Amino acid sequence: MKKFLLSAFALTLAGSGFAAADQPAIVPVPQQVTSNGSKAITLTADSRISIPRSDKALRGAAELFSRQIAREANLALKVVEKPEGDIRLAIDPKLGEEAYQLNITKQGVDIRGGAPAGVFYGLQTLRQLLTQYGATLPEVTVEDAPSFGYRGAMLDCCRHFFSVDDVKTFIDMLALHKINRFHWHLTDDQGWRIEIHRYPELTRVGSQRAETVLGHNSPACDGIPYGGYYTQKQIREVVAYAAERFVTVVPEIEMPGHASAALTAYPWLGCAGEGYEVQPHWGVFPEVFCAGKDSTFEFMQNVLAEVIELFPSEYIHVGGDECPKDNWKICPNCQKRIRDEKLKDEHGLQSYFVLRMEKWLNEHGRHLIGWDEILEGGISKSATIMSWRGAKGGIAAARSGNKVIMTPNTHCYLDYYQTEQPLGNEPWGIGGYVSVEKAYSLDPYDQLTEAERPYILGVQGNIWTEYMASLAHVQHMVLPRIAALAEVGWAYDRRDINDFRRRMENLRKIYERCGYRYAPYFFEKPVAGE
Ligand code: ACM
Ligand code: ZN
Repeated sequence: MKKFLLSAFALTLAGSGFAAADQPAIVPVPQQVTSNGSKAITLTADSRISIPRSDKALRGAAELFSRQIAREANLALKVVEKPEGDIRLAIDPKLGEEAYQLNITKQGVDIRGGAPAGVFYGLQTLRQLLTQYGATLPEVTVEDAPSFGYRGAMLDCCRHFFSVDDVKTFIDMLALHKINRFHWHLTDDQGWRIEIHRYPELTRVGSQRAETVLGHNSPACDGIPYGGYYTQKQIREVVAYAAERFVTVVPEIEMPGHASAALTAYPWLGCAGEGYEVQPHWGVFPEVFCAGKDSTFEFMQNVLAEVIELFPSEYIHVGGDECPKDNWKICPNCQKRIRDEKLKDEHGLQSYFVLRMEKWLNEHGRHLIGWDEILEGGISKSATIMSWRGAKGGIAAARSGNKVIMTPNTHCYLDYYQTEQPLGNEPWGIGGYVSVEKAYSLDPYDQLTEAERPYILGVQGNIWTEYMASLAHVQHMVLPRIAALAEVGWAYDRRDINDFRRRMENLRKIYERCGYRYAPYFFEKPVAGE
């Protein structure tokens, strides 16, 4: 078994009088942290958080922080619009939007951010320091800014459905790690989860499956109807909740594959026009949207018209992965489309589908994201690729000038097991093996030249929920691996797994104080000499 040596960082500090273990423990690691350990201030029930007059976004960030530390540090701090508070928040336009500076001195705590998001991240750092030190804080100076602008996590709410409260808790977990994108997987074979007023059958029929497969995708099912969906009102509530935490919600509406639920609701959307069911099994199914009929595109555009009203995100994810072409090969409409449009084959037809949707999204002021399969058959320069089948799709896309979000399954699939010998030890995963250390080792720039690097927007962890029926199970899969990915996204060039291990002990306390389940394996240090 691997041994974890004392880090160079710890050795440097030995004998300095301020033990390495007492150094500020912040995850993701800031650009610069300095502390000599001398006592600065003690926050009390009389301490106040000052915000500039009538700054709504800062007030929101301050009040959220106040609620968080009331629960986690047992400190009730009032927010005031007077300059003399003990924790003073301000905007400094010289800083980047997500950048912040935090200074803790005997005069109090000053947090300046380039925009409210930066101040929010400064407060999240202070939250971690209050957990580490309690109400008596040492002198600390932090200068910080993220490496990547896109730091995401995806939750699949189709294979299993998660309540609005669960989704909010998930967003809280992301915000704690300074993750700023929640990719919400809303439609799939096993359930359509977003209310679309124009097509009520999508949720009336498509959100319900007759039963769910038992065990690890065995042939048998449980015989228990399963379903759920989010009303548009609930979706607005989630989007607003996320925005208060500086998280943008990126919705995913899958096309042309993973369409069984939609086809069950409206069979005319498929090539055969009949014989569909909301899938009780996991997997990839041949029932996909017919790319030959114009009515499919009208439907999709009408759906997206409601989606863009709900989600202010610049990016709309249209899936594009795992679309078997079997039915297109025998569908007269699809074959006619291939001939009429002079497409090479069914891959060309998939490309046609995605390009047509992208044109519509662009005309409506949005940008398209698709899984890396959309590269097959050709894509436009303006499409953004989410590279999941390893990094090679993302590398190819960056080389051809497309923007990329790196989510390779080798490092970012949080439905994979976390230990080498999962059986009997871990709750179910889908398979595979992604340890915290593996996630931490992701290099989103791997094999890319300096000129190609700017095409990498960031990184994302994906939580597919075939085998996760509860939020507790999701948390076990997400924590602490998402912390590793958050550090890749925030602190790309200053990672150190041993120092991360030290700092994670503090973040773990927040997991516990928030009542989050987390996987213990990373925290179970190997016994010396083993
Ligand atoms: C995927 O995992 N099918 C994107
Ligand atoms: Zn067809």
